[in-house]
Amino acid sequence: SSEVDNNPEDEFQALLQTLEQQTNWDGQRLVKYNGFWLLELLFRPILSARKYFKAKATDVILSTMPKSGTTWLKALTFSIANRSVFPIDQSPLLTSNPHKVVPALEFNLYWGKENPDPELIPDPRILSTHIPFEMLPDSIRESDCRIIYVSRNPLDVFISHRHFLLENKFAKDAVPLALDEAFDMFCQGIHPFGPFWDHMLGYWNAHLKNPERVLFLKYEDLKEDILSNVKKIAEFIGSPFSPEEEKQGVVEQISRLCSFENLKNLEVNKSGNVLGLMKNSSFFRKGEVGDCVNFLTPEMAERIKNLMEREFQGSGLIY
Ligand code: A3P
Repeated sequence: SSEVDNNPEDEFQALLQTLEQQTNWDGQRLVKYNGFWLLELLFRPILSARKYFKAKATDVILSTMPKSGTTWLKALTFSIANRSVFPIDQSPLLTSNPHKVVPALEFNLYWGKENPDPELIPDPRILSTHIPFEMLPDSIRESDCRIIYVSRNPLDVFISHRHFLLENKFAKDAVPLALDEAFDMFCQGIHPFGPFWDHMLGYWNAHLKNPERVLFLKYEDLKEDILSNVKKIAEFIGSPFSPEEEKQGVVEQISRLCSFENLKNLEVNKSGNVLGLMKNSSFFRKGEVGDCVNFLTPEMAERIKNLMEREFQGSGLIY
């Protein structure tokens, strides 16, 4: 009957039945939706966000693939946007994990809530998401809001994600697959929010098409020159640093506050968790570029390199 058809839970279960499914190497369920492998855990919130989220022109959306630098980007953007509200020594980041300070669409806002009150978060809103560009709620793609994407070398992403999932054990009873099997799945694009090349290309092409609305950053560039990237983010969100601020060292202060060493060593990030699922400490492992060489063989690195050359060919995206 139509009554049954209109039950969101039934509709959701019916849709789920039609989708290709896989088990990630750590035991978590993945479903393939519009060409992307989504964590089943997040599928319902993602659908709700797509259906109900209304972006505002003043929103800033932080988009990433997991383990590409989300935590860092959250800390930076929050600090830049709120620098006139909180002095550095009173920053909420000193007492809260960055994931508490900047909520995620699928983890926080729509987690267990079909259609939450959008006023729960005051304007101007900073929100994060792992949703691929093509799959974002229409209102994000159609509004004048800003999107900041941070990408990272997929080899480091893979290793970082490997550690993160082993540390947090989402599927309690699962026996994780060995590294080489997990790597093979990654290269096939079967990983949370994969294939990584499509995730990166979606935002890359959006950036090329509309650079005023979509900023494309690289984790490696942030590591190399944080100061100019902090300035870039500030300009992009429409609040560039004044000459006075620059003279006072505000750019340096924000960079230092959000640095890996500083955040990792804060009491708040040494204990506690996000949503009872992810240890705060697990978001701060090594924070380096190229740690993958300590875990992957040259053949594995070559495989990803070839994959990227093929997939990124002609796009202008270089990794
Ligand atoms: P590693 O596992 O390589 O150390 P995400 O924030 O997207 O979950 O990504 C986590 C990765 O970013 C981890 O990488 C983590 O250590 C690193 N990271 C977290 N905070 C950082 C910061 N402030 N500066 C640099 N890297 C950071």
